[in-house]
Amino acid sequence: MTATGDLEGKVAIVTGAANGIGRAIATRFVAEGAKVVVADIDTGGQGVAAKLGGRAAFFTTDVSDPAQAHALVDFTIEHFGGLHVLCNNAGVSGGLRRFLDDDLRDFERVVAVDLYGVMACSRSAARHMVDHGGGAIVNIASGAGVTPGIGMLPYRAAKAGVVQFTRCLAVEVGEHGIRANCIAPANISTDINAAFDKTTVTRLQPLPHQGRTRDIAEAALYLASDRAAHVTGLVLTVDGGMSLGTPPRR
Ligand SMILES: NC(=O)c1ccc[n+]([C@@H]2O[C@H](COP(=O)([O-])OP(=O)(O)OC[C@H]3O[C@@H](n4cnc5c(N)ncnc54)[C@H](O)[C@@H]3O)[C@@H](O)[C@H]2O)c1
Repeated sequence: MTATGDLEGKVAIVTGAANGIGRAIATRFVAEGAKVVVADIDTGGQGVAAKLGGRAAFFTTDVSDPAQAHALVDFTIEHFGGLHVLCNNAGVSGGLRRFLDDDLRDFERVVAVDLYGVMACSRSAARHMVDHGGGAIVNIASGAGVTPGIGMLPYRAAKAGVVQFTRCLAVEVGEHGIRANCIAPANISTDINAAFDKTTVTRLQPLPHQGRTRDIAEAALYLASDRAAHVTGLVLTVDGGMSLGTPPRR
């Protein structure tokens, strides 16, 4: 990818950036000129930030704890002098169980990280952005939060919550120059979906290849940058066309 400096002068937080999609987003944001805080519960994020150089820093964060979300925003402002972009990417999937077999033991953790964490980080970031010229919030939801399906109902319900939260947030904070959008990925090769049979899943898509973390990073870059200056409340699907249905030729 050729860097165009789309995030020059911006400071961003990417949660869950120690691995997978978040790491790809943080890497792309730094390549585009941003200063980035790699926020993760996994201290492996320290190494990710070190590899990205002086324009990245790591902050240990459990996004499901509002006090830690607040401390993350404070750290970012103190370390890099501002905050213009928040990318809420951290997430956990919970078990793959069908609903009737589900003891729902994952529910609280999945909702706490995937939905409450998004809300807690957004609130702390938006409170700063309101007084500092606005900003962009990019939430990583999921195709599972848009299209009904079987299994993983706590995850699907939490991600549907992220979609509706994002759209409502866009309405709430637009007057302050804050944009809120989300991305609904599916079938991106990372740890979170390591248990899925990739060949079968990919056969369900019009585009017959596995999604890459950088496909989501490209979408996040667009929504974070001023190129999307008039875009808010969008749910951007990045799923190889999976949500359109299985192609008849297969
Ligand atoms: N991979 C896919 O196909 C896919 C599809 C749809 C949505 N998503 C979403 O994309 C996001 C990134 O997932 P991924 O595929 O890169 O998975 P991943 O497991 O590789 O990365 C998730 C990251 O979130 C971090 N994390 C977990 N709990 C946390 C917490 N409480 N506080 C801070 N960080 C925490 C993990 O340590 C990890 O670094 C998730 O929100 C996921 O639901 C992924």
